Amino acid sequence: MPLVTFDFHNTIAHCDTWFALEIRDLPAGVLHLMREDALIEVSGELAALAADTYRQIRRNVTLSGIDIDAQTAVMTTFADIGVIAEPRTVERYIRKIMRAALSDLRPVDGVLELIRELHNAGFPLGIISSAAYHPFLEWSLKEFGVSDCFDFVVTSASAGFYKSSPRIYLHALELAGMEPQRALHIGDSPRWDVTTANAVGMITVLLDPHRGGASQIDEGLTAPDLEVDSFVDSRDAIVALAKSLPADLPAMTPTQEPAVPVLRVDIFTLFPTMFAGPFDESILKRALAQGIVDVRIHDIRDWTKDKHHTADDTPYGGGAGMVMKAPPIVEAIEDVLGDQLERAHIAITSAGGRKFSQKIAHELATCERLVLICGHYEGIDERVSALLDADELSIGDYVMTGGELPAMVIVDTIARLIPNVITAESIADESHAESRAAIVEYPHYTRPATYRGHGVPTVLLSGHHARIDEWRQGEAQKRTSRWRPDLMEQGSDA
Ligand SMILES: C[S@@+](CC[C@H](N)C(=O)[O-])C[C@H]1O[C@@H](n2cnc3c(N)ncnc32)[C@H](O)[C@@H]1O
Repeated sequence: MPLVTFDFHNTIAHCDTWFALEIRDLPAGVLHLMREDALIEVSGELAALAADTYRQIRRNVTLSGIDIDAQTAVMTTFADIGVIAEPRTVERYIRKIMRAALSDLRPVDGVLELIRELHNAGFPLGIISSAAYHPFLEWSLKEFGVSDCFDFVVTSASAGFYKSSPRIYLHALELAGMEPQRALHIGDSPRWDVTTANAVGMITVLLDPHRGGASQIDEGLTAPDLEVDSFVDSRDAIVALAKSLPADLPAMTPTQEPAVPVLRVDIFTLFPTMFAGPFDESILKRALAQGIVDVRIHDIRDWTKDKHHTADDTPYGGGAGMVMKAPPIVEAIEDVLGDQLERAHIAITSAGGRKFSQKIAHELATCERLVLICGHYEGIDERVSALLDADELSIGDYVMTGGELPAMVIVDTIARLIPNVITAESIADESHAESRAAIVEYPHYTRPATYRGHGVPTVLLSGHHARIDEWRQGEAQKRTSRWRPDLMEQGSDA
């Protein structure tokens, strides 16, 4: 049976108290309880600072697409504003505040009937919601008496991705073992429910009680497959849409089978939130959404064992700076890769490594699993390289503060070489392509034909392909000798 997933807030449940806690008030709520228990003096200024800091964290989550759970967000807020609190105490207080918020919970009109009808018709059901506190959703389903109807609840706290990233939807589909074309997502947000779910290929229903969706869609968002103003009046239409999805996709014929080779990249870093933006745009976003490339970011600190999550230490032999410790990195990679460790190509980003090039990118694009380790500070304990038999890659002869940007450069370069990410023709005919190793690409022009007195070379308007090719070759030579004479020297040596 096809899968049906629901957004939570204002699709299944209304609960303004919970929503305010999630986006704004959680640290202030915890501070309030700490004051009641005489653990801390809380001034109005401190509470306001906590609210501002937390709001900034939530804003960064939306922008980056990478979410953190409520406890981590509150602990980060407290660390920023200088409040000392035991993680377990914070967890206990969050639970208490969230439990209290249940009193404000009520179901969206008609949704419980819709859930039961879909469940009785045999559809597997799930929830996909951006929520920093996962248990609240499980409690809510119990309160409504429908928890047995659901097969899974994916929150951004549990998946690690906010709904600004399609990866939360991919995570849910993977969990359900379902193809996106056989999955229907129902939600009230044209942006986070319709547009993001549609980006991975899911069918969508927009619940829009005020019928404002159409105007928002004009702002560049994706239109839903079905728009309804209430579940009460439109239950039959939604069930009919779910029933119209393919029960099973046709079995793959042998010629279809190798259609999309998948590269899985695991990146190990101390700064996971740096990765969000570049992976959520353009071609890389599409490759991720289509499952052609699967990039997972891992926080090395999750594998530290002390309470301060120490991942670096002073260098043996003295000298400036800190060195990243070997144990958390090695253990993180062993844990994540498991029995795939032997099959993975493991590379450390390093200013002193072999120079990354289009040729190396082509080689790495054929791996099934690629691991990139991002250094920081003075670098990484040398034993990581020895123990993991790692490659070392530099993106150029300069020193950056960390390996995160180099890792992004490497993934971006490799991803576009994987079949189906962009056209084979584009790759064959560009700078540094294997067919034209010693020459950069010819110049490009597009409309208008004249701009500030500069016209387009007339040969490009002639439609004469042989002459255009000849002109392009000549221009490519000129550009190479102007900007990259070193390439011409390498070419003549070869
Ligand atoms: C400040 S650098 C360390 C430089 C190191 N002490 C050296 O002299 O080679 C910190 C980290 O940034 C990354 N990094 C810096 N420049 C890089 C480059 N050009 N290519 C790849 N990674 C680089 C590496 O992961 C490195 O461990």
